[in-house]
Amino acid sequence: MPGWLKNAVFYEIYPQSFNDTNGDGIGDFEGIIEKLDYIRDLGANALWINPCFDSPFMDAGYDVRDYKKTAARYGTNDDLIRLFETAHQKGIRVLLDLVPGHTSDQHEWFLESKKDEVNEYSGRYIWTSHAFEGIAGRPYISGMSDRAGAYMLNFFASQPALNYGWLNRTEKWMSAVDSPEAIATREAMKDVMRFWLDAGCDGFRVDMADSLVKNDDENKSATAAIWANVRDMLDKEYPEAALVSEWSNPYQAINGGKFHMDFYLDHWNNGYNTLLRDYETGGEDNSFFRSEGHGDIMRFLNDYLPKYNATKDNGYIAMFTCNHDTPRPARTLSAQELKLAYAFILTMPGVPFIYYGDEIGMRYLDVKTKEGGYQRTGSRTPMQWDHTRNMGFSAAEENSLYLPVDHSSDAPAVSDQINDPDSLYTLTKNITAIRHAYPDLQADGPFEVVYAEKEQLPFVYRRGSLVLAVNPSLEEKKAPVTFRENEPVFTVGKAEIRDGQLILSPQSFVILK
Ligand code: GLC
Ligand code: CA
Repeated sequence: MPGWLKNAVFYEIYPQSFNDTNGDGIGDFEGIIEKLDYIRDLGANALWINPCFDSPFMDAGYDVRDYKKTAARYGTNDDLIRLFETAHQKGIRVLLDLVPGHTSDQHEWFLESKKDEVNEYSGRYIWTSHAFEGIAGRPYISGMSDRAGAYMLNFFASQPALNYGWLNRTEKWMSAVDSPEAIATREAMKDVMRFWLDAGCDGFRVDMADSLVKNDDENKSATAAIWANVRDMLDKEYPEAALVSEWSNPYQAINGGKFHMDFYLDHWNNGYNTLLRDYETGGEDNSFFRSEGHGDIMRFLNDYLPKYNATKDNGYIAMFTCNHDTPRPARTLSAQELKLAYAFILTMPGVPFIYYGDEIGMRYLDVKTKEGGYQRTGSRTPMQWDHTRNMGFSAAEENSLYLPVDHSSDAPAVSDQINDPDSLYTLTKNITAIRHAYPDLQADGPFEVVYAEKEQLPFVYRRGSLVLAVNPSLEEKKAPVTFRENEPVFTVGKAEIRDGQLILSPQSFVILK
């Protein structure tokens, strides 16, 4: 386990929309470099950058055309290496996004694979044995190549599935997981990882990490075995490199796949979803952090605790404010509600991720789809730095921006919040500072529930020598438990100890030591 993860606070950057320094309307590596001090001052000491490789951008770069070459619109490989170096000087680690399950249909491997003549890449993707044979229950495409076969898709139509083999093989064209072609795909992906680790990156966020082996068993043990093999390579060759999975099943990803950490994704009705985005399930919005949500922390804990307990000795659960696939939390939560939510997310065990712009409460915008974003596009709009042209994102003409900026007169901006002691930005900065100051609050610090009852507030939890409590409701709440910690080290709203009992004002959060 890379030691630096213990105290890591990540900041996710969607490079298209972060900071444009050459006026072409789209963010770039130089723009990230320029803002590294901003990121460090916020208290983040690690970055995850969404795919920044050569791509036709049918899925915002998750359709990689060349794993070893950066997309020209962001800069050159050398610019990215300079980003790694500058970040390291400032104590910031950088994770790239590895997309191992599929490539773009314009990747050289695929261009070779679709040829009629057998070659080195014929088995790199999943193909049936003739053009009129499809793949039952799976998306596939036929009739687009000289090669007589249908190829399987892993996501959009432009993303053919790489071949890691099939565990349960029912057709003769299905490769075994230990076939030479399946092993070759795995080794090719390790080669990509070595390439960027040698160039100075600190690890990878792994896209759709659970999607490799097809017809896997219910524990996804064949897919997990591939990642355990990758982890062995890292342990030997790059022991400081970190791997985080987009899997959202820590038993499989951490215990099986030996990932250092696994994202707790926003999936309908899982524990995480009930905290911020309960509305997505279609019913009434009873999100825990909504002041009128009649929050029930048990909906979160019943899902989270078994996962946490089963994996905490092997790796970390990574909880985020949002990501590029998920509606911004400010879509439904007020600044005060967001403060409580971030205070909670940033004081939980595991590794927290802040999505760019969430620290100022950027909104989910109603914008047209871009590069395969569809409804996700509303969470991918340009960072709002100040109130100058294009909110400080770019000097380009407004109509040549990658995506429109928030035009509302009260659009949040960094410049308004950075010196405001009551802003969401300042809350985020202060809570990350406390996390850095108290090892008990960090990734592997202990976690214990002190008071949590169905449909009752507050929620009180312990992290080692600290007691934390949150009351998202509009009423004062009393914690019906006693503990000896009584000195507040951090508060949102008001918390007081009266007759040995903790009283929390409406919409408040406290850390006691
Ligand atoms: C992941 C990414 C998403 C992408 C998909 C296909 O879910 O987060 O943005 O579209 O994988 O690569
Ligand atoms: Ca640019």
